[in-house]
Amino acid sequence: MIISGKELSARLKAEMAEQVASFPGKYGRVPHLVVILVGDDPASVSYVTGKAKASEVTGIRNTTIRKPDTISEAELLDLIRQLNEDDTVDGILVQLPLPAHICEARVIEAISKDKDVDGFHPLNVAALWQKQPCVLPCTPKGIIKMLKAAGVGIAGKRAVVIGRSNIVGLPVAKLLLDENATVTIAHSRTADLPSITRQAEILVVAIGRPKFVTADMVSEGAVVIDVGVNRDPETGKLCGDVDFAAIEPKASVITPVPGGVGPMTICCLMENTIECFLRRQG
Ligand code: GUN
Repeated sequence: MIISGKELSARLKAEMAEQVASFPGKYGRVPHLVVILVGDDPASVSYVTGKAKASEVTGIRNTTIRKPDTISEAELLDLIRQLNEDDTVDGILVQLPLPAHICEARVIEAISKDKDVDGFHPLNVAALWQKQPCVLPCTPKGIIKMLKAAGVGIAGKRAVVIGRSNIVGLPVAKLLLDENATVTIAHSRTADLPSITRQAEILVVAIGRPKFVTADMVSEGAVVIDVGVNRDPETGKLCGDVDFAAIEPKASVITPVPGGVGPMTICCLMENTIECFLRRQG
C-alpha cells in the first residue's frame, strides 16, 4: 500500500476549512500565521509557497515576510519581537536553514513559545520530552497521523529512525516511543546500518541523501516512511531518501516522494496554527 499524504492532507485541510469558517462568528477573526523567509534558497521558497497555499485552502490568514540574506541577526530578532507582541498574530515560523551569520538557536528561542507553530522552542521541546501538553513538531506529527490513517499498529513494534535532527529524527523517535514502539535511532555513524534497519517493522528515514536506503536494507513487510526531499543526481527529479522503485514491492506500506510526508507536514502546520489561535482565545 502506498500512503498518499496528498490525499490525507486534502481531507484534513477540508475539515479545518470548515472549522476556521466558524471562527469569525465565534472569535471575530481567523487564525493568522506569519512566515519569515530569509534569502532565496529555491527549496525554502517552494516550502513557503506551499504553506501560503495551504493557508488559503484552510482559510487561515497568511503573511509571508521576505528578507534579504544580508539581514542582520539583530534585525531579525527585532522583527520577531514585534510579531510576539502583535495580538493579531497567532503563529510565527522562521523558515530554516538561515544564513550562516545568523544563530538559529537564538532565533528559535526568540519566538514566543505560545506562537511557536514549529514546536522548536526549547520550552516546547522540553514539554515534548516530559509528555506535557505542547505544540508538536509538524513533520513528526504528520508521520504519526499517516501511520494511524493507514491502520499501522505502532505499539510493541520495532521502529528504526535513521537521522537524529532536532526537526525530524529526535522528535519522531519520541512520538513513536510515546505510541509504545521500541525505538532505535540510527545515523550516519551507525556501524553496520543494514543489520539494524533490517530489524525494523517501521522504518522512518530522514537522512537527506537521495535513495540512501536500498532494498537489501529493508525487511519483507516493513512499513517505510520516507522524509527525504532530494534531487536525483541522475534524472534531476525529486526523490526521497529511499529507493522507492526497489523497496515498494517489499514494503507492506510506503510513502511516496513527492506526495507523502511533505503535504502532511504543511497540514500539521495549519493544525498547529489553529491550536495556537484557540489557546490564545483562552
Ligand atoms: N526547514 C525544513 N523543515 C522545516 C520546518 O519544519 N520548519 C521550518 N521552520 N523550517 C524548516
